[in-house]
Amino acid sequence: MGINIRSTIEVPLEASKIFLVADFSLLSDFQFSGNEIDYINRKKAEEKERDLFIFNRYDFLLVVIIPELGIPITEAAEKIRRNSALIQKSLKEEKFNRVALIDLVGSKDFILALAEGLSLSCYLFDKYKSKQENPESLEIEVISRSFTGCEVTRLRKVVEAVFFARDLVNEPGAFLTANRIGEIVSDTAKKHGFTAEVYNKEKIEEVKMGGLLGVNRGSVEPPTFSILQWKPDQAINSKPYVVIGKGVTFDTGGINLKTAPGSIDTMKCDMSGAATVLALLAAVSANQLPVHVIGLIPATDNRLGGNAMVPGDILTMHDGTTVEIINTDAEGRLILADAISYARGFDPGLIIDLATLTGSAAMAIGTHGMVGMGTANKEVMENLTVAGEATGERIAWFPFWSDYDEALKSEVADMKNLGGREAGAITAGKFLSRFTSAPFIHLDIAGPAYLTTRANYRGIGGTGVGVRLLYKFFESLVSPPPK
Ligand code: BES
Ligand code: ZN
Ligand code: ZN
Repeated sequence: MGINIRSTIEVPLEASKIFLVADFSLLSDFQFSGNEIDYINRKKAEEKERDLFIFNRYDFLLVVIIPELGIPITEAAEKIRRNSALIQKSLKEEKFNRVALIDLVGSKDFILALAEGLSLSCYLFDKYKSKQENPESLEIEVISRSFTGCEVTRLRKVVEAVFFARDLVNEPGAFLTANRIGEIVSDTAKKHGFTAEVYNKEKIEEVKMGGLLGVNRGSVEPPTFSILQWKPDQAINSKPYVVIGKGVTFDTGGINLKTAPGSIDTMKCDMSGAATVLALLAAVSANQLPVHVIGLIPATDNRLGGNAMVPGDILTMHDGTTVEIINTDAEGRLILADAISYARGFDPGLIIDLATLTGSAAMAIGTHGMVGMGTANKEVMENLTVAGEATGERIAWFPFWSDYDEALKSEVADMKNLGGREAGAITAGKFLSRFTSAPFIHLDIAGPAYLTTRANYRGIGGTGVGVRLLYKFFESLVSPPPK
């Protein structure tokens, strides 16, 4: 498995080809027969919705995608990404591993979506299979006047970062311990030229991260806290953007063990936020994006053990706030709160956390998007919304009214770690927001982070959701899209 995308100018005869086209008569310049073009014209007249044609020429595929016009460009681009997953399946079945993408529409957004969707569809996690499923990599050549080789390279690095995030999520908890996360952070930093510091348990005790230490109490693996920094000379922001990822390497629920059928099965994915933060720093630094970004990753597993925290315990957090534990399964907010409060030392312009935080968020909107909320201004939310639509990593904004604060009041401590039965995703976000006065966005990715059934270019298992969203968000701050 692998991808290799490059830009080229010559249409290779023997490769499979995918044409983005609005005017079918242009196809006659290529390898299509008159019959095939007639067929496309006839079918398109019969079925207006149809936007994909695949012809098997035995040595290669000839594919036509007709981008939908008259709908927002972002929606049409997402349809292309999803179609590309179908095409990838056919290519794989036929063992065709060379494909050229040919842009006959002249749209940068569409050809990029095609290259992105096709390469993301190739992802496979076969590290633990004794026989690798598809050792061949797919060679993708892009032929378009609308964009440059640099843009292809940039896209490739972002796709590689998504694969990296997916790999981390798919790794079992026994492999991806908190220490291992720290090691991978350091290796990735060296590879891409950002800086990293990894705190061990002693250092975490020294800085008094009571939330992270509390969750770690039932574990035999020590926690880590990683600080990643990409600070280019020409950064456009004077105050850094801090991104924080939940790094629960496995969530058993702790003493409040996850006993509901199926609820524990996929909990190796509970470090998806951490994976996204690490991969995002890799992408931003690999592409030398002029944005000052700091990543924070609190990491531990959440387990039962002789010394595990129990309901009724009171933790003193990094900022001195005391928290009454109502439920040990509401652990993500405890480790994130310490990271959010630690971020104060960087005087952030914006804090964004990504976390598989609540089943409530997943129940509310399913896997089709993430839940967002926070205190940052409208412009930040609008920019995130636009980046979400452009990447297909959409955000559903939830209310963040002060009314929800009530639910976190405790009789015995400054607050408790669980609200009531209602609005669980929001009260979790409210809990986090207490730990900073900086503009804050919380993205709950519990729904889309990990898929148990295959879904188009997002695949199955870890999706790496949030990498493309936040990369796009930062990129759009550097060069805002035309209004
Ligand atoms: N890691 C879970 C949330 C989660 C659920 C992630 C489903 C991915 C898929 C989180 O730590 C958790 O256990 N949340 C509990 C909170 C409960 C104790 C109030 C939940 O949402 O059920
Ligand atoms: Zn939990
Ligand atoms: Zn969790």
